[in-house]
Amino acid sequence: MRIGIDKIGFYAPHFFVDMEKLAEARGVDPAKYTIGIGQEKMAVAPITQDAVTLAANAALRIIDEEDLAKIDLVIFGTESGIDNSKSGAVYVHDLLGIQEHARCIELKQACYGATAGIQLAKGHVALNPESRVLVLGSDISRYGIGTAGEVTQGAGAVAMIISAEPRILALENESSYLTADVMDFWRPIYSETAFVDGKYSNEQYIAFFLNTWEEFKAKYGATLSDFEAICFHLPYTKMGLKALREVLDEGSESDRERLLAHYQTSTIYNKIVGNIYTGSLYLSLLSLLELSHDLKAGDKIGLFSYGSGAVGEFFAGTLQDGFKEALAAAEHGKLFAGRKEVTVKEYEEIFSHVLPVDGSNIELDVESDPATICIEGMEDNKRIYLNKTR
Ligand code: HMG
Repeated sequence: MRIGIDKIGFYAPHFFVDMEKLAEARGVDPAKYTIGIGQEKMAVAPITQDAVTLAANAALRIIDEEDLAKIDLVIFGTESGIDNSKSGAVYVHDLLGIQEHARCIELKQACYGATAGIQLAKGHVALNPESRVLVLGSDISRYGIGTAGEVTQGAGAVAMIISAEPRILALENESSYLTADVMDFWRPIYSETAFVDGKYSNEQYIAFFLNTWEEFKAKYGATLSDFEAICFHLPYTKMGLKALREVLDEGSESDRERLLAHYQTSTIYNKIVGNIYTGSLYLSLLSLLELSHDLKAGDKIGLFSYGSGAVGEFFAGTLQDGFKEALAAAEHGKLFAGRKEVTVKEYEEIFSHVLPVDGSNIELDVESDPATICIEGMEDNKRIYLNKTR
């Protein structure tokens, strides 16, 4: 039985800030942000969006009545959780109207959470071939105004249905993974923003990629020529390129050309969204699948997932017959075209406008947010969510 990604959807909030304008405001050469880091636009989440609403909005784009009746497991990968106790998956389950005989959990290991979710979903479907699993990767990446990490912020979510006989990507059993306790990036419970040792995090990312790739080759006798493309977790689009360049010499000239060309396609969406942590690798996969014109059924795609702290995994999937028809490229094009640019000053105001943490109530203006699912306020220490279609 083949098991893998049957559907994949994406959602980003409707605001973005232009990276050249951000660079100017920070007194930095814009080329550092657009070329040195490789980012063009950064998604900015309004106060009416959090990890739960972003995930639910991403899932709304792919889910139909049959999914609502058949999903029996919702796995929510995030490091922007809204509660230390209750999982974001339970809110999404309700906001979408998934049938009640389902398990709902939240997973955390930095940006690796959605990959962990996919691998667990695969095991669940292997035991329950009729089941469909909703895997979510949803985050708002916050380092703080004027910090070195600011240019690598972003917001958005990816939602995937994992099932038997998937229409997009069958996941291979081949996989290599690695854990080591490193303090490259972390966010203590009391902090709204992440702490990071930037240069060290880059080094660890590359070390984890090289280690898992070596392990993958040793286990399965793999070479670069086996892969039509390799997608990476993309905290910023230069990062994956740095890692890919480390191994390109192992391949032929044509391997190098093919992998570099597909790498560029796999970064187009990430360049205009920013780091969405758990969803970043899958946004890159989506960018590759929706925007490339030369991929075909049977092509093998390598995937490198990295979650600071740290866990890394290199795994692979095979494109399925008719995968293009199972994608929603036009929808995603519309989503990007409909976004609104905010000035750097407006972005700073939005960034500072956060939900109360002192127990006070608040009512929010959901009319100014075009998203179907929003936070409409806080009452008695509870976030009140709204699905405008209900
Ligand atoms: P920085 O110190 O501002 O930048 O930090 P830099 O001085 O290292 O410059 C960046 C690049 O721009 C360099 O290129 C410069 O040469 C180039 P590189 O040598 O790296 O190829 N540059 C220019 N290029 C063209 N024209 C110019 C110019 N000036 C300089 N004029 C850093 C950058 C990414 C470290 C910082 O933004 C940061 O700390 N970000 C957050 C951490 C991060 O994203 N780490 C990535 C790996 S860890 C990870 O992926 C996990 C994560 O997603 C979290 C999770 O798992 O949950 C973060």
